Amino acid sequence: MQDIFLEYKVVIVFLHVMSAVIWVGGMIAMRYAAHHSFLEIESPMKRLEHVAHALKRLFIIVIPFVIILLITAIFMVKGYGLSQSGFSSISYLKEAIWSIMFVNLIIMILRRNRGERFLNEGNVVGAKGQIELIGKVMVPLNIVLGILAIFLGTYLSSNL
Ligand code: HEM
Repeated sequence: MQDIFLEYKVVIVFLHVMSAVIWVGGMIAMRYAAHHSFLEIESPMKRLEHVAHALKRLFIIVIPFVIILLITAIFMVKGYGLSQSGFSSISYLKEAIWSIMFVNLIIMILRRNRGERFLNEGNVVGAKGQIELIGKVMVPLNIVLGILAIFLGTYLSSNL
């Protein structure tokens, strides 16, 4: 694994950074650009339908990059020998952040799916209950964690 990392280091680090850009950038664009535009829609049913649809597109786009982020991270842990280095605690912290972000993403997907089912049944209140928390708490939480992971990545990159 270390040999592969050394041979393809540029590609592996590039894919890692690109994945972070798409995952974290996608969430920021959704939460602070698209979301505000959806709030202009007066009908709660139509508003929730648009939010649910946009979230579905976002999740489909980010899932491959979430996986690429982890695979490239594993290559870097092995390639740099991070677990045996003085940077092991930062590496574990980044792994913990990825895990929380991933679990949070899975819960968001489940809530969105449930919200969409409620919308199809005409249950707007139920749908709102499922979808509202995603925009208010869960996406902002992943944005903050993502930015922290990027900061730790910058620290690692300038010290390795
Ligand atoms: C899964 C655990 C993770 C590990 C073990 C890990 C490890 C690393 C390492 C070793 C570097 C330095 C690469 C180099 O310069 O050669 C790095 C950079 C980076 N990481 Fe991670 N990372 C993880 C998760 C994440 C997450 C969740 C994000 C953001 C969502 C992220 C974003 C970045 C970025 C943007 C850089 C580039 C920073 C720079 O070049 O200045 N990483 N990461």
